[in-house]
Amino acid sequence: MSCPVGVYDSGYGGLTVLRQLRKTLPELDYLYLGDSGRAPYGGRDVDTILDFSEQCVERLFAEGCRAILVACHTVSCVALRHLQHRYGSAERRILGVTIPAAEAAVQRTRGHIGFVGTARTVASHTFRTEVRKLSDSVQITEVAAPLLAPIVEEGWEDTEIARLAVQRYLAKFDGVDTLVLGCTHYPLLERAFNELTPPEVNVLNPAPEVAERFRAWRERHPGFAPVGTGSLRVLSSGDVTRFATHGARFLGEALPAVEHIAEQNGRLALCPEGSEPTGQVVR
Ligand code: DGL
Repeated sequence: MSCPVGVYDSGYGGLTVLRQLRKTLPELDYLYLGDSGRAPYGGRDVDTILDFSEQCVERLFAEGCRAILVACHTVSCVALRHLQHRYGSAERRILGVTIPAAEAAVQRTRGHIGFVGTARTVASHTFRTEVRKLSDSVQITEVAAPLLAPIVEEGWEDTEIARLAVQRYLAKFDGVDTLVLGCTHYPLLERAFNELTPPEVNVLNPAPEVAERFRAWRERHPGFAPVGTGSLRVLSSGDVTRFATHGARFLGEALPAVEHIAEQNGRLALCPEGSEPTGQVVR
């Protein structure tokens, strides 16, 4: 059985992290799970995010993964500890994106970090907690931007609507020198962020740092992510045709045929090609 690295996100966004991983470690096999049928997660309550994330990591472990990277900032901030306690073992590991993002920001800042993310990410203050472990003098301003992920999901990142929304959220920051894009969807809005922030502000997409940290971790723990053939499988709980088409913008390359998963009896089951769509469980 192959042993791919599991990469999990609420939807498309984590493909921006997978893109960096495949650049950094092209020899590994990857299995991406985008829970796009139930995205966005960012406005959901904590219990629902815990439930969805348990289902997603269980699916990935069942598919043979030994290491899972939770690419989604919302899940990393809200559920990572829980998932690590529940599923982490000598054979299985779960990693997140918040610590690499905090480390990258502290390394670059001249004293004031801005962080933009989903409502649930910002309400958790996990990013602030991780920065505080590294520095107690750095100032941190966190701003929730609930409209941005849906705009990107819709494919509207190059529109006036996207620019106006980014502008409105940026107006809530005052004097930051480093702005962390704390949601995997926002790299698609990087141009708008760069154009609309003053030139002295460093807009930081943590994905390259996340990939670099994963590379370093894997060097210490090679058994969790053995060398493969560079293969990629993709699972989605949403419309698989749309996921393949739309996902290419996030991954920067064509996706393979996307396999459908759906919630059945509280678990995310793999639905064989041609099976009747079950519809999503509404919460
Ligand atoms: N991918 C999620 C994150 O990184 C954002 C999208 C969502 O709300 O589901 O936070």
